[in-house]
Amino acid sequence: MADSARPIGVFDSGVGGLTVVNKLRHLLPHEDIVYLGDTKRNPYGARTKEELIRFTREIIAFLKTRHVKLIAFACNTATAAAYDTVVGETDIPLLGMCRGIKTAAGISSEKRIAVFATPVTIANHIHRNEAARLDKTLEIVEQPCATLAGLIERGCLEGEEIRAAVAADTAPVLKAGVDTAIFGCTHYPFVQPVFESFCGDSVVFVDPAHETALQASALLKKRGLLNEQKQNGYLQLFFTAEAGRGADLATHLLEPDSFTVREALLS
Ligand code: DGL
Repeated sequence: MADSARPIGVFDSGVGGLTVVNKLRHLLPHEDIVYLGDTKRNPYGARTKEELIRFTREIIAFLKTRHVKLIAFACNTATAAAYDTVVGETDIPLLGMCRGIKTAAGISSEKRIAVFATPVTIANHIHRNEAARLDKTLEIVEQPCATLAGLIERGCLEGEEIRAAVAADTAPVLKAGVDTAIFGCTHYPFVQPVFESFCGDSVVFVDPAHETALQASALLKKRGLLNEQKQNGYLQLFFTAEAGRGADLATHLLEPDSFTVREALLS
């Protein structure tokens, strides 16, 4: 098979990375996509660096068995904890999650930007470091969200429990007077309306999924790897546990008949 005809591999700790898949499907409709959600070990947000490196290596090995031509990390936590370690270990190009700083900086008139992300992502300061490289006058207000990804993964997309968690996570950020916020975890766009209900019109939200999809497109183009097939690409979803639950959540973003679902065993 020609390299360009191979699928794109995408992964996350669970369903969050489907927000990236959604953008990839719109931008690159002719690409086949194999997605791995590690639902068995979700959430990743409080795991150790060693665990996250091990999980990422196992997922890369799995995606290699599916003959992917590119592996996109649709997970900020794995990007923050494992990308730098594993990037030199494989001949397949790897793409980490974009930070969204450039986009947010273009929107923020106060130059004060919030980042909502998992504790691991915040502890690694990947957004703050990128902001410092881009523009030293940018102020990044980092907000670790301890429970959000786990709640979303359980399908808790509305109601009191998720509202209480988002209320607690947005309160300090609103107090800091930000006018722009980045979803630094791919799960959070699932509950953007809840975030918006607490932040009103005062905060513009940036989802770096779109930028990540644009980078994937640019990378494939540069390497002559864009799929030239005429029909729309397939989407295979693999979950390491509870594939049915993953499929249910997927239908919040994707047409039910646009993907297939299977359980995957990692080794
Ligand atoms: N969706 C992931 C991220 O972007 C991981 C969330 C989690 O499992 O804690 O960081």
